[in-house]
Amino acid sequence: MTIRWGILGTGTIAHLLAEDLALLPNAALTAIGSRTQDRAQAFAETFDVPQQYGSYEALVGDADVDLVYVATPHSGHLPHATMALEAGHAVLCEKPLALNAEQAARLIATARRHDQFLMEAMWTRFLPVMTDVRRLVHDEQALGDVHFLRADIGVTQDFDPTHRLFDPTLGGGALLDLGVYPIAFAFDLFGPPDTLTSSAVLGETGVDEQCAAIFRYDDGPQVVWHASVRADAGRTCVLAGSQGRLHGARSWWKGAPFTLTRTDDTTDTWARPYAGNGYQFEAAHVMRCLRDGRRESPVMPLDESHRLLQLTDALRADWGVAYPPET
Ligand SMILES: NC(=O)c1ccc[n+]([C@@H]2O[C@H](COP(=O)([O-])OP(=O)(O)OC[C@H]3O[C@@H](n4cnc5c(N)ncnc54)[C@H](OP(=O)(O)O)[C@@H]3O)[C@@H](O)[C@H]2O)c1
Repeated sequence: MTIRWGILGTGTIAHLLAEDLALLPNAALTAIGSRTQDRAQAFAETFDVPQQYGSYEALVGDADVDLVYVATPHSGHLPHATMALEAGHAVLCEKPLALNAEQAARLIATARRHDQFLMEAMWTRFLPVMTDVRRLVHDEQALGDVHFLRADIGVTQDFDPTHRLFDPTLGGGALLDLGVYPIAFAFDLFGPPDTLTSSAVLGETGVDEQCAAIFRYDDGPQVVWHASVRADAGRTCVLAGSQGRLHGARSWWKGAPFTLTRTDDTTDTWARPYAGNGYQFEAAHVMRCLRDGRRESPVMPLDESHRLLQLTDALRADWGVAYPPET
């Protein structure tokens, strides 16, 4: 069964996902929607998309689309995903699911009211090497008792107050763009923390350009993570336990190799190189969910997306970071 995709928005991630859909035999990219006809046209020419629309309303009005992929800035996730769900489409929405937990709850309620599939596009979770990590840590207990996770993630973006990473009206800042990856990784392995402490460096526009947090689990490990839109961080992670450590190489959240070093210094590496950009794994998962008649992913459940935003809400409250579209 071919799943017909419509992409809402024509930015960076829309291009990356469109490239990866071409790797999936049962995915058909049938429609693109942009705020302008010109951008829709250009995208359609690049990817040979049969239908192009100069408004998001027109895209979601296409009854021949099964699934809408929402690829807009963070502030667009709630309005654009809502629009697609109400028009009767399944939705894969870019991360995070919304700006805050209250918005996410509204979006989840809309999906349930319309009996439609909804998932946050936490693509890292679907990468093959992450299956290895979960197996090593949980099933094989290769690290023994895990006591520690450290993860960092950073990009260097030149300051531009209108860029989505710096503009508070678009939900800018390191937390929602990058911090969600180590948070989701910690949730995946250990669930939400019991307590946390954090710190952020706010920039000229009032968003967190750098942030860091320490999670504490009453019966689990300590998690330390850092995210930045200003620093070319090591982009590595380490999980450490009583019997060894697992080191995620540079750009660990993009499926880089993980190396296990045991306490006797023997090592093994799990490398799962892939074709394309890596978004095909989440896309294939969503299509499997749709074929199985699911309304929610068992791998990235909606409750988890909501819990993640409850946590980011709490962090932002401590830092005094607010986004104007939240109210
Ligand atoms: N870049 C990545 O590698 C990456 C990776 C994973 C996830 N993501 C997520 O993907 C989402 C989009 O990121 P991106 O990097 O693709 O952003 P982007 O390059 O800025 O593209 C966003 C697109 O959204 C549309 N849009 C709608 N309202 C907008 C507004 N007010 N201002 C700017 N654009 C607006 C625009 O398309 P039209 O003008 O055609 O309507 C624009 O091209 C974010 O949630 C981000 O966290 C990005």
